[in-house]
Amino acid sequence: MEKIIDENKQGDSLVLNQNKDNQRKLYIESYGCQMNFSDSEIVASILAKEGFNTTQQMEEADLVLVNTCSIREKAEQTVRKRLEHFNAVKRINPKMKVGVLGCMAERLKSKFLEEEKIVDMVVGPDAYKDLPNLVAEVDEGRDAVNVILSKEETYGDVAPVRLNSNGVSAFVSITRGCDNMCTFCVVPFTRGRERSRDPQSIIEEINDLWERGFREVTLLGQNVDSYLWYGGGLKKDFDKASDMQKATAVNFAGLLDMAATAQPKMRFRFSTSNPQDMTLDVIEAMAKHDNICKYIHLPVQSGSDRILKAMNRLHTRQEYFELIDNIKRIIPDCAISQDMIAGFPTETEEDHQDTLSLMEYVKYDFGFMFAYSERPGTMAARKMDDDVPEDVKKRRLTEIINMQQKHSLYRTQQHIGKVEEVLIEGPSKKSDAHWMGRNTQNTVVVFPKENYKVGEFVNVRIDECTSATLIGEAVGYSDNN
Ligand code: SAH
Ligand code: F3S
Repeated sequence: MEKIIDENKQGDSLVLNQNKDNQRKLYIESYGCQMNFSDSEIVASILAKEGFNTTQQMEEADLVLVNTCSIREKAEQTVRKRLEHFNAVKRINPKMKVGVLGCMAERLKSKFLEEEKIVDMVVGPDAYKDLPNLVAEVDEGRDAVNVILSKEETYGDVAPVRLNSNGVSAFVSITRGCDNMCTFCVVPFTRGRERSRDPQSIIEEINDLWERGFREVTLLGQNVDSYLWYGGGLKKDFDKASDMQKATAVNFAGLLDMAATAQPKMRFRFSTSNPQDMTLDVIEAMAKHDNICKYIHLPVQSGSDRILKAMNRLHTRQEYFELIDNIKRIIPDCAISQDMIAGFPTETEEDHQDTLSLMEYVKYDFGFMFAYSERPGTMAARKMDDDVPEDVKKRRLTEIINMQQKHSLYRTQQHIGKVEEVLIEGPSKKSDAHWMGRNTQNTVVVFPKENYKVGEFVNVRIDECTSATLIGEAVGYSDNN
């Protein structure tokens, strides 16, 4: 029998499911997208069975793992700097082993072991179940690599160990990989083909989270709208499924419906939506269930039809507007956020102006904006020159960020005077006397603590705002408690 310590406090956060009998210590650091943070919880779970408990003190760890991101060059540089730091610690403590996980591991494969002598283990995103063997190899003094991508692996049968958790909100991954092949993007190469996780295992994980006191789940995938379960296999092979499989298939709208019905008091979010794959039935499922949050992260990358095409984004500017109009018609108070890339190859000033005018139309609530970074192996890197000068990229990016800042403030101002349901996540970063939580639109709300507690749903009257935060006062519990 495993002895489980249910709540083991580490710093400000809870780490669930530490095993008292475990002797070895794992330190794991994650970079990049939410999926990486979620994957690290799977890794921690697999290694918990191999005798490892997590620690937040890197210096005391037997095994240091870094879950890496390749999305932009800067992300890789950050990881390289961390590896240098681990190297310094390793010189003092030679028993410490270091492993690289995730997208950089997949992209650079065994090159890592040659180039970066400090790395003992290289593990791609689909190979985490092989960690017990890989750790054993490293224990015996050999370097270990597994970067095989899988057509089936969804880790649906691994119960994640919740790391750095506030005990209130959790990620649940529903798809892995991506089939979209946007020409700038390294993800299809590092995370492989798209596959969906069995809905039953998703619902079981959600039910388990509810039982443990969690109140919000974010369903994760590179492209959640493309979720399709028909009894296993790759999304691209759905055509070959049997009639029976087709008749009982579950799409993303169906999954949302199942989740929202299974736990009617749990809040659900999801990320990320790709405009070309988002269908009306998803928006309708959101409208139908109060517990599906009214927020869609809907990256567009550019407002120019010519650039969208060059990026292999399979929709036009007009189609994107139609989608936005449909969302706002069906869910008038729905928040929408974007990802934008400035300076994609061949982008002209006119293309850039198209991006700004698209933003002006949508007036996004939030945004994540990046300068184009050429990624080796992608179609854009192979076929196009990275020809927008760095200073032009930076200037365009600044204009995009400034415009987003203006729109974020416009959006937060619309909340003033309203009473909104907030799920309390923890203390405000700036003031210990205040709670921090989010409204359904995912905007951060800060208010005096009074007698309310973490994990409670509270109605808050919004009095003031900045472009990123709503400030108010609680007026009572919401019906959802
Ligand atoms: N579908 C994924 C996208 C992952 S990448 C998801 O789950 O969000 C996140 C964002 O990084 C993309 O939407 C894009 O805006 C940006 N990005 C991806 N590749 C990039 C590159 N080569 N240069 C700059 N930004 C990039
Ligand atoms: Fe990347 Fe496009 Fe997929 S941005 S993750 S290839 S939807």
